[in-house]
Amino acid sequence: MPGPAKKRVLFLCVGNSCRSQMAEGLLRHIAANVSEVHSAGAVATGLNPRAVEVMAETGIDISAQWSKVVDQFAEENFDYVVTLCDESEDNPCPVFLGEAGRRLHVPFDDPAYATGTEQEILDFFRRVRDQIRGWLETFANEIISEQCREVAVWREQLVQEMKTLFHGDQPRIDHALKVLEYAETILPEETADPLTVKAAAILHDIGIHEAERKHGSAAGRFQEIEGPPIARRIMERIGIDGDTIDHACRIVGSHHTAGKMDTPEFRTVWDADWLVNIPDEHATADRKKLARLVDRVFKTEKGYKLAEELFL
Ligand SMILES: [Fe+2]
Repeated sequence: MPGPAKKRVLFLCVGNSCRSQMAEGLLRHIAANVSEVHSAGAVATGLNPRAVEVMAETGIDISAQWSKVVDQFAEENFDYVVTLCDESEDNPCPVFLGEAGRRLHVPFDDPAYATGTEQEILDFFRRVRDQIRGWLETFANEIISEQCREVAVWREQLVQEMKTLFHGDQPRIDHALKVLEYAETILPEETADPLTVKAAAILHDIGIHEAERKHGSAAGRFQEIEGPPIARRIMERIGIDGDTIDHACRIVGSHHTAGKMDTPEFRTVWDADWLVNIPDEHATADRKKLARLVDRVFKTEKGYKLAEELFL
């Protein structure tokens, strides 16, 4: 079963009214790019308005979230299931019966039982909110580093698959690796999904041999037809998730046609490919011609800057 690119997280507490709701809103805010967050309770007692209020104080709107019962998720898989209930509570923590990669128990006091003046009750909520946020920052880092490790493993597998497919065609292998290197230089400056970019960079020319065999030509339009199914087979075999495969295949199927698509991932691979191709294909162009070309083709700021440094 392929692991999803985004880690699925389920927060649980007794009533899914305060703690798990705040945790859901906070993690979605802290780590939106890497996590898909849900919350539930043993019972659904309704979203607590004070939880909404103290979250709004930090600029996070959870008013659209709602209370759910854990059984609703029993058929689903989560990478992390986190119970936030305090052991000493009368009501036991809900038990998640579905599949969980990891189960964590991180207890926090239940603000639903806060007593005193309105001010004292709100302060109780704020204290728990801040404690949850403090823990979540560490937790989010853990999710991010786990994803980086997974991406690094996939990157290595894709490189091996590409080398096997291009067996002995060293110029093609070198080209793909150079495009990957430039894509990884541009990547930190773009808000692009790293696995999509790396996969598309490694596999962008993967249809070239098939294009030559079937159509007698390595022309871009034939590569764009033959590349995606081969790229898809490779990515499916090593267990990359469907959304990433679809996106990377669209890039492989568009990498010779500007304007066919326009995502940060496409722009990154596009620029990386041009950075490698300009010295190969435009070696004899004069500086003026090169300047016009650079102006015309580059789509990312970093790609443009690199081109200026390298060619102008
Ligand atoms: Fe290329």
